[in-house]
Amino acid sequence: MPTLGVNIDHIATIRQARRTVEPDPIAAAVLAELAGADGITAHLREDRRHIQDRDVRLLRQTVRTHFNLEMAATDEMLAIALDVKPDYVTLVPEKREEVTTEGGLDIVGQLARIGEIVDKLQNTGIPVSLFIDAEPAQIEASAKMQAKFIELHTGKYAEAQDETSKNQELNFLAQGCEQAIKAGLRVNAGHGLTYWNVYPVAALPGMEELNIGHTIISRAALVGMERAVREMKQAMMG
Ligand code: PXP
Repeated sequence: MPTLGVNIDHIATIRQARRTVEPDPIAAAVLAELAGADGITAHLREDRRHIQDRDVRLLRQTVRTHFNLEMAATDEMLAIALDVKPDYVTLVPEKREEVTTEGGLDIVGQLARIGEIVDKLQNTGIPVSLFIDAEPAQIEASAKMQAKFIELHTGKYAEAQDETSKNQELNFLAQGCEQAIKAGLRVNAGHGLTYWNVYPVAALPGMEELNIGHTIISRAALVGMERAVREMKQAMMG
């Protein structure tokens, strides 16, 4: 079974709705770890709509499992990552207007730019994961770049409206996972995964870690963080 990285961004979303100090994503991370989270993920967005710089620095000091910093491939974020030194960095595309991360990174179209950021991070000992769609050309380019990980974008699978297209998307993910492992990459996945759709992705051979946020935080708001994390770990086991 893959490990579970709990994305705590939306605890910060609730806090930022009032620009106050509660709920604190640091406390949420502690509770998630006590409940069995294997890692904590946070996305520092350019517009700081949820996670703040202070959160990233405190998470670095308090997370006892591993801390995955999601960020755009910009000079500002690179400087923060080099300073904070998360356990790994996941590079994601970012557009100001989007509600959430919409598609995977275009590695093929930005080989030089992304390659430079991957090298700068990995040369200082911070492994990099590239958030991409399960497309053969993107996987090949990620392997050429010698990124340690890719994170397969599960959004299309999660949004599929009928069984046929859901199975088709799952197939793409399975093929992508296989291709990536053969090329020497380690494979994570995430986006749009829920208690109801997580199992088939968790069961893909070689899948290492699932990064899951919205569904866990939604359940945590009603039943508490510890129960929400425990129930996700159960759902991943089928
Ligand atoms: N992985 C990546 C790269 C993401 O950008 C996000 C959303 O921030 C997630 C995983 C988690 O997605 P969700 O909140 O839909 O579980």
